[in-house]
Amino acid sequence: MNERLTHLLRQAVSSLSEAGTKDEIHAIRVLYLGRKGLFASFLKDLSSLPADGKKAAGAAINSVKDRIEREIEGRLKSIEDALKSGRLAMERIDVTLPGRTQPLGRLHPVTQVMREVSAIFTGLGFETAEGPEVELDYYNFEALNISKDHPARDMQDTFYVSEEVILRTHTSPVQIRVMEKTPPPIRIIAPGTVYRRDSDITHTPMFHQVEGFMVDEKVSFADLKGVLTIFLKALFGGSIGVRFRPSFFPFTEPSAEVDIACVICAGLGCRVCKGSGWIEILGCGMIHPEVFKAVKYDPEKYSGFAFGLGIERVAMLKFGIDDIRLFFENDLRFLRQF
Ligand code: DAH
Repeated sequence: MNERLTHLLRQAVSSLSEAGTKDEIHAIRVLYLGRKGLFASFLKDLSSLPADGKKAAGAAINSVKDRIEREIEGRLKSIEDALKSGRLAMERIDVTLPGRTQPLGRLHPVTQVMREVSAIFTGLGFETAEGPEVELDYYNFEALNISKDHPARDMQDTFYVSEEVILRTHTSPVQIRVMEKTPPPIRIIAPGTVYRRDSDITHTPMFHQVEGFMVDEKVSFADLKGVLTIFLKALFGGSIGVRFRPSFFPFTEPSAEVDIACVICAGLGCRVCKGSGWIEILGCGMIHPEVFKAVKYDPEKYSGFAFGLGIERVAMLKFGIDDIRLFFENDLRFLRQF
């Protein structure tokens, strides 16, 4: 009996040492110590022993059983410990590592200038309006006094969607859309994206404009000059030189272009201003009576001025950028500078 017990113990210890999981150990426990396990059969044998042998044999069985019990507990604990230290190693945090910095976004220079322009006109009592980028020929040209055969259509090379539908070439159609719906007096700016078939260092097929217009009784060219001069001084600084030059646009009469003194050479003459000392910054004029007729405003009663400004051009001058395409390449090394 003792021999069998010793053998059983050795067997149990060896299979325990091979067991790698709790489930395997549980199976070993059932095999040896379970109700129908190997020890149960020893206990059955006890009953056939003589009374004086029973006590010693019982003690021997119990001591081996206890030993196996302890082996099992020990093995379970070491598996538990191994699992736990594995988990701890995996969850280890090196508190001395530098943190991950969140890259901070910022506004695109075009957006910055757009907002600055809007803020100045908001301060002058102008409200903001928007119009569609996919526009009808009627709003983009016809109602602005640019008929189908008008030579001025060549000034703006157009993307056509269909014969009557285009990508707007300027923000001026918003004038028509607003005036159709709103009686004077009105003071509106209309910022937005415009499209032209044009591409070089000062032109991209997509760019941004801010349109502005004001209509009331007795609005004069002096109002136009006053508002635009205040605007340009707010945008470029109070000492900037401003001049108005006669020009032509089909939707204004008279029309003018506005120059500012060259921000690069302060009017002395350089490459940017082509030696003239002046830089063209916007187009403007008194709204043409034909435009008023298209929106059913009485040109005898009302007058108004309008202007259009290229945002990228302003941003290039303000930030000293010499290639308009940089705005749309989204190179972070460029964008981070603003
Ligand atoms: N729409 C013109 C353009 O793209 C700019 C412009 C000129 C707008 C004169 C106006 C204006 O409102 O009066 O180039």
